Amino acid sequence: MSVWYIRGTALASAFLMTGLIAIADGNDASNTSPVYDVGLPPGYRDWQVIGVAHEAGALNDIRVILGNDIAMKAYRSATRPFPDGSIIARLAWKYVPSAENNAIFGQQQSFVAGDPTNVQIDVKDSTKYAASGGWGYGQFENGRVNPSVDLINTCFACHDRLPKSEDLVFTRYAP
Ligand code: HEC
Repeated sequence: MSVWYIRGTALASAFLMTGLIAIADGNDASNTSPVYDVGLPPGYRDWQVIGVAHEAGALNDIRVILGNDIAMKAYRSATRPFPDGSIIARLAWKYVPSAENNAIFGQQQSFVAGDPTNVQIDVKDSTKYAASGGWGYGQFENGRVNPSVDLINTCFACHDRLPKSEDLVFTRYAP
């Protein structure tokens, strides 16, 4: 085996590994939002709970709002505006009755999370996102970014309707 062959193989494996690690980390450069370049943050499913919510109507979902450590610290110390590096994730699922639970209760009262609908991400970077109040936005379905520019342009437009003191964030900390 020539030294060139060995070098070539090592180089190819290094490239392959880098690619695999990038995907495993969620740092897949192609999987980021239009306009803001926001990706799915690695490990967001393990973040702490800020609050929960239920939207009726056409959405008919149940959702949890999670924060990374910087966002949680800001919530717990009532710090506004949120510091750079804060990330808030909103996960939503279909709001469905649980036949299994209702059979135990003996009446229709139990609703649980069904299929996932989408994940929305807010990232605070007051320099990069100066034009949108310091926040960048992204929406993901089944782990893939929603590429719609029309959709992504609705995010800031609606969040910006809050009073300035809320720093574009609706969710209150659920104690
Ligand atoms: C029509 C208004 C509206 C639009 C458009 C909208 N949001 Fe929101 N968003 C809300 C409201 C109201 C809440 C709080 C209630 C809830 O969670 O359902 C919220 C909550 C959130 C949260 C949890 C943090 C917070 O602010 O409470 C994130 C993250 C989020 N939205 C991201 C997005 C993204 C990303 C988009 C665009 C793809 C978007 N939103 C579009 C109104 C909107």
